[in-house]
Amino acid sequence: MAHFTKATSIKDWLNQRLAIEKVEKVMASEYWIPKNINFLWAMGMVLVITFALLLVSGIFLLMYYQPNIDLAFDSVNYTIMREVDFGWLWRHVHGVAASVVFLIIYIHMFTAIYYGSYKKGREMIWISGMLLFVAFSAEAFSGYMLPWGQMSYWAGMVITNLFSGGSLHADGLVEWIRGDYVPAQAFLNRFFMLHVLLVPLAIIGLIGLHFGALRIPHVNNQDGEEIDFDEESKKYLAGDKAGSKVIRFANDFMSKDMLVVAIYLVFFFYLVFFHYDFAMDPVNFDPADGLKTPEHIYPEWYFLWSYEILRPFSTDIGLIAFAFAQVIFMALPFLDRSPNTIPASRRGLFKYWFWAMLIDMIALTAMGKVPPVEPFGTIGLYAALIFIGLWVVLPFITKLEKKA
Ligand code: HEM
Repeated sequence: MAHFTKATSIKDWLNQRLAIEKVEKVMASEYWIPKNINFLWAMGMVLVITFALLLVSGIFLLMYYQPNIDLAFDSVNYTIMREVDFGWLWRHVHGVAASVVFLIIYIHMFTAIYYGSYKKGREMIWISGMLLFVAFSAEAFSGYMLPWGQMSYWAGMVITNLFSGGSLHADGLVEWIRGDYVPAQAFLNRFFMLHVLLVPLAIIGLIGLHFGALRIPHVNNQDGEEIDFDEESKKYLAGDKAGSKVIRFANDFMSKDMLVVAIYLVFFFYLVFFHYDFAMDPVNFDPADGLKTPEHIYPEWYFLWSYEILRPFSTDIGLIAFAFAQVIFMALPFLDRSPNTIPASRRGLFKYWFWAMLIDMIALTAMGKVPPVEPFGTIGLYAALIFIGLWVVLPFITKLEKKA
């Protein structure tokens, strides 16, 4: 048993039992952040705030939502939207946040790719980030099933069909996942459970892992400079705040983060009040009907690029290309063979690789939205081939890079 003395304050009482001063130092007042970073480094905090908005609005929606195929559609479109006071507001906050979170995730990912923040000791940050991306994708997909509209039903049908594995004909697997021959009550129950319990729990655990992975290597900076955090923090603590290359996470850096978060929230609530419809597909305002297939079935905008990698090929090749697209970003730290952690603009061929990948993914997204008629089918096919080609050449072009 440790030695306890009579506490002089509540803080002292807690400190003796929970070492709160030490925790505060490790997580905030002596968690050192480089000065040389820009607003893009606030995207992590913007993601934390957006996730909090999703959790809170989700809890309010859960009070009235009915996970029953006969009641779900009305519980959302009638009870929540019309009968419950401010139900519409919670639904719009939830819908807009679910869409915007992907925009911010993509900005956060491409910032990390541009500055090489996945390299040399930061691999676990990247891997935990990619696991978060997968978990958010599962969360968005399972949530999309819940209103039990036409798109919920048919997107559920198409995506679960992927598990039949093309000519492997693993149809039993598809039925096992659905709990029925077609999406029905068992399907809705299990996606409801995933959406409100299992996946959010996984996300919370993964955010913990992501933050833990950041603590030892610290965040990168705009020049990829290897900062001696011990040396620089000593300078700061000795009073040379101007000469030191680092500042405290709290309250110094947090105050900058909060400015970006405040600007973001103005944009966010502008969307919630005036343009919430961009996050909702009109087809999903028709109740699910297993006898009426919608003319075009397409996923939400954030899945379109990977959907377009599946679509232009025959079933088997399409499935392999799709699976490749889902996992390949995870391998980025190991496929980039360059010794340099510097911005893409100062790297050899990687500079072109970065922009080619970004533009290609935007092209895939645009092609995923239009029906597969010419010339869009051909453009989509080339964009998918370029995506795969870019990953194949990555190890070779980065190996050629000289040490900067
Ligand atoms: C929604 C989930 C996520 C949350 C809450 C989150 C949060 C954060 C936070 C707070 C930081 C530190 C500050 C910053 O650089 O922004 C960070 C850094 C980082 N995140 Fe995420 N992140 C998420 C998803 C992702 C994803 C999907 C990736 C990509 C695979 C990723 C990769 C990284 C990397 C590489 C860093 C280090 C940046 C650096 O060292 O400069 N994160 N994240």
